[in-house]
Amino acid sequence: MSKAHDALVTGQFGPRANAYVESAVHAAGEDLAALEALIGQAAPGRALDLGTGGGHVAYLLARHGGDVAAVDLSADMLAAVAQSAKAKGLTNIATHRASVDKLPFADSSFDFIVSRYSAHHWRGFEGGLREARRVAKPGAPVILMDVFTPGEALLDTHLQSVELLRDTSHVRNYTLAEWSAALVRAGLAAKSVRTWRLHLDYQSWIARMRTPPVFAEAIRALQKAAPDEVRRHFAIKDDGSFTIDTMMIETLAQ
Ligand SMILES: C[S@@+](CC[C@H](N)C(=O)[O-])C[C@H]1O[C@@H](n2cnc3c(N)ncnc32)[C@H](O)[C@@H]1O
Repeated sequence: MSKAHDALVTGQFGPRANAYVESAVHAAGEDLAALEALIGQAAPGRALDLGTGGGHVAYLLARHGGDVAAVDLSADMLAAVAQSAKAKGLTNIATHRASVDKLPFADSSFDFIVSRYSAHHWRGFEGGLREARRVAKPGAPVILMDVFTPGEALLDTHLQSVELLRDTSHVRNYTLAEWSAALVRAGLAAKSVRTWRLHLDYQSWIARMRTPPVFAEAIRALQKAAPDEVRRHFAIKDDGSFTIDTMMIETLAQ
């Protein structure tokens, strides 16, 4: 098997495509409701979903706007999205297999761009942000949503460790300060930041990614060994369920 990072991502997500289409964590949530309100106000003519996964953002964009481009590295994921869009009667979603840091679109071609729960997998994090700015029309909303890491190193090390054990295609959860600085460098002007706490049920979190037992056991061992500060911040429960920090940064392309 190829060990290139992008191959690792497609190897991880391809066989799990239906689990992501069906995932309750991805198909709903306070963050998705907040996003829907923004999409509803904008009613974008042409919209882009970067790292579409199970397609939950693309479906919202398609319901409230015009044409939607759903981009992902995984062909299997895109096939599952196309099938699910058809079942929902959404005929305005086109799927594109590409990496976010090399988008197959012309400059200034989208009215609205979103990426949700994908950037922590990007090898080219800054390149992906620059590409989002390039293909956005000047002044268009570019909405970035992801898990973020608390600034404190003790908490950060725990989060990155369990994320990598659960999914070997994990690259990095960034702090809000790292996000802000990267957005400035990419030419995306932050307008607002919202944060939430998201409860993750351990069993379904592990099952969705089909984490090998050896890694799943290592996560449980790390959780049991974690100091009080870590257990408290992530609200780690006896069954391994815990709570993470998520964010939505609303920016405008400059
Ligand atoms: C957790 S899923 C995304 C969830 C989805 N956006 C949602 O809101 O339900 C992460 C997705 O990012 C995709 N991905 C990771 N790196 C990527 C890259 N460099 N370019 C495009 N897609 C990427 C993966 O293939 C995977 O389908």
